[in-house]
Amino acid sequence: MAEPFIITLDGPAGVGKSTLAKRLAEHFSIAYLDTGAMFRATAWKLGEGSWDWSEDKITKALDDFSFSLAGQGSASILSLNNIALTDDIRTEQVGMWASNVARVTVVRDFQKKAQREIGRTTSLVAEGRDMGTVIFPDAEFKFFLDADLEERARRRMLQLEEMGKEADLSQLICQIKERDDQDRNRPVAPLKPAEDAIIVDTTKLDINGVFDCLVQHIKSKS
Ligand code: C5P
Repeated sequence: MAEPFIITLDGPAGVGKSTLAKRLAEHFSIAYLDTGAMFRATAWKLGEGSWDWSEDKITKALDDFSFSLAGQGSASILSLNNIALTDDIRTEQVGMWASNVARVTVVRDFQKKAQREIGRTTSLVAEGRDMGTVIFPDAEFKFFLDADLEERARRRMLQLEEMGKEADLSQLICQIKERDDQDRNRPVAPLKPAEDAIIVDTTKLDINGVFDCLVQHIKSKS
């Protein structure tokens, strides 16, 4: 696989995209792009309530933002203004802020440009909500992962606990549902599978099973 190529992984919160995207990137020795982290970092840096600012004010603030990606596999490092992103952005609260800024057209336009620029020169496993539909419509491989809400909340709880962050399952179910509803129903780049994406319901599959299924698919078509 010498030519640059893109694998897209889209799906709702807590479905296991990050774990799988990292493993796929590691397997194929290419970079991993976490676009959710780009929206989280944007919301974190602009601050609470920034989604209600005027377009002009948001555009001016974004002029000072520059994302870059280095390394590959699980060692891929995403930076904003040359500072690597940290786990501070990984809370559900920042997830909701991210979902709020992600509804703003100028923010989406900015992210589209930044993400496409990274994908222009670098082979990627790109994960997010609109990778297969909007950002990389010509990607070689497109997957859309889904799972029941409760299972996704449980996975997210384990993830947060591993990071040493407190989590409550019933609260997570409500938060994830609210965020997903907003992501699915926004007018610009809503969360949905691309027409040519392979849809995988991971509710009853473990991570190894899903990983094997995606790798098999990619190998059979390469
Ligand atoms: O994937 P993650 O949970 O980190 O994403 C945070 C939020 O960023 C999502 O709920 C969604 O609103 C937004 N997002 C998006 N488009 C992407 C990736 C994330 O709108 N490609």
